Amino acid sequence: MSIHPQAPDTPAPERRPMTLPRLAEMKLAAEPVVMVTAYDHPSAEVAEAAGVDIVLVGDSGAMTVLGYDSTVPVGMEEMLMLAAAVRRGLRTPLLVGDMPFGSYESSDEQAVTNAQRFVKEAGCDAVKLERGGASVDRAAAIIRAGVPVMGHVGLTPQTAIALGGFRAQGRTATKAAAVAEDALALQAVGCFSVVFEAIPAAVTAALMPRMDRSLVIAIGAGSAADGQVLVFHDLLGIFGGHKPKFVKRYAELREEMVGGVGEYAREVREGAFPAPEHDYAIERDELEAFRRYLERDGRDQAFTGDWAATEI
Ligand code: KIV
Repeated sequence: MSIHPQAPDTPAPERRPMTLPRLAEMKLAAEPVVMVTAYDHPSAEVAEAAGVDIVLVGDSGAMTVLGYDSTVPVGMEEMLMLAAAVRRGLRTPLLVGDMPFGSYESSDEQAVTNAQRFVKEAGCDAVKLERGGASVDRAAAIIRAGVPVMGHVGLTPQTAIALGGFRAQGRTATKAAAVAEDALALQAVGCFSVVFEAIPAAVTAALMPRMDRSLVIAIGAGSAADGQVLVFHDLLGIFGGHKPKFVKRYAELREEMVGGVGEYAREVREGAFPAPEHDYAIERDELEAFRRYLERDGRDQAFTGDWAATEI
């Protein structure tokens, strides 16, 4: 239930749920695809109202909402809980669940089981996994089992330590070729999309003509891709942690939030909140009756007032 119902003369514009064929049409028509992360019901409602095309329940939620210091510790149960909350707030964008580290690497069976949990238990439309190599086989197995897959190459935060830290990838010809091989392998097994993270814009631009089937979504990978993704808490300035070079802030909500909570704290301490307009009223004779009840001797006598009818 919304506490701010829409005025009847401003109906929300009708939008149809996003589909994979529609995304493929957008790629063909060079219509930029907008993706954002979300981790809970309010952020999903914001993404819905803003009209984005794809919502990713990213494992970045480990850091942005769960307080871990990397994406590595987050588990399936936590990701499913976040994804289910997002599902309840979304109607039109495609919903992608991010498979956490340790949920798909061991075997095809493990990967399929956990991908299907995102669909069955959280209502996701697709899943995302990181890296090339063995992840390409896992992606193929998940797709064969009927779940669309988004790949993720370049900087892959789940294995950032193995990559030498959180740094741009593909900055030499050899390393760019390695990124390209991963991306092309993910495309070849049928990933509907591949995220390119933190690679030179010129590498993305050079590779795009070869990425003719998978939708390329960039984050710190230039404007030649089919679409862009940013982390909700980064773009709105909610997350207080490290801000990568590729993040653009479109709002500074953390400052606003600290300001708002600080103002509330000040008013409570000064006795300015709550004010009379925040109070509930009681009829004068009911209040008198209540006062007599409190003053009465012999409290063991039952009070006969109608408590259930008290308006709250
Ligand atoms: O977890 C995440 O938010 C991501 C995006 C940055 C693509 O993987």
